[in-house]
Amino acid sequence: MNQDVERILIDEEEINQIITRIAAEIDRDYANSNKRLLLLCILKGSVVFMGELMKKITVPVEIDFMKVSSYANGSKTSGSVNIILDILRKDLNECDILIVEDIVDSGRTLSYLTEYLKLKGAQSVKTVTLLDKPSRREVEFTPDYCGREIPDFFVVGYGLDYAEKYRALPYVGILKPSVYNT
Ligand code: IMP
Ligand code: MG
Repeated sequence: MNQDVERILIDEEEINQIITRIAAEIDRDYANSNKRLLLLCILKGSVVFMGELMKKITVPVEIDFMKVSSYANGSKTSGSVNIILDILRKDLNECDILIVEDIVDSGRTLSYLTEYLKLKGAQSVKTVTLLDKPSRREVEFTPDYCGREIPDFFVVGYGLDYAEKYRALPYVGILKPSVYNT
């Protein structure tokens, strides 16, 4: 185990089971849609989850990417979400968009993106997140698909970072507070 990780919260096997379950739910819900299903990966934290999820979904999917940053001015109360890489395709009216996120915290990123993509003309917009910290919500938001709810720990691994580190760990682990308190 990585020396900065206090303990493993969700191991590889459990993550695998979670993603298998979510993929089956998505297959079931989109089986009868005549629109194109577009998995929209929110960079960078969602890449690992996205890669595994898309392999397990059996209905045809297309993929795209967006990159956003929240609180660019450092203010937690600003609620601003900055789009750093936008989605470029012009045929969103033909698409069911499923936004793929690593973790929901305040809820600002996904509530903003959901509205943004609807305004851009998407046929439908839903959200899937691997992890959710409902106790941290600042805006009302409920993901359509959720891997697992977790308490208010700062977690890393499986795509999630602290200062760009730990993304490649194959599990979700709780970071030692000493790492971010120094
Ligand atoms: P929010 O829901 O808009 O507040 O932001 C969610 C984003 O905050 C996620 O996509 C992560 O980038 C980041 N985040 C929130 N909690 C954690 C965590 O425990 N570890 C790593 N990143 C986190
Ligand atoms: Mg993120």
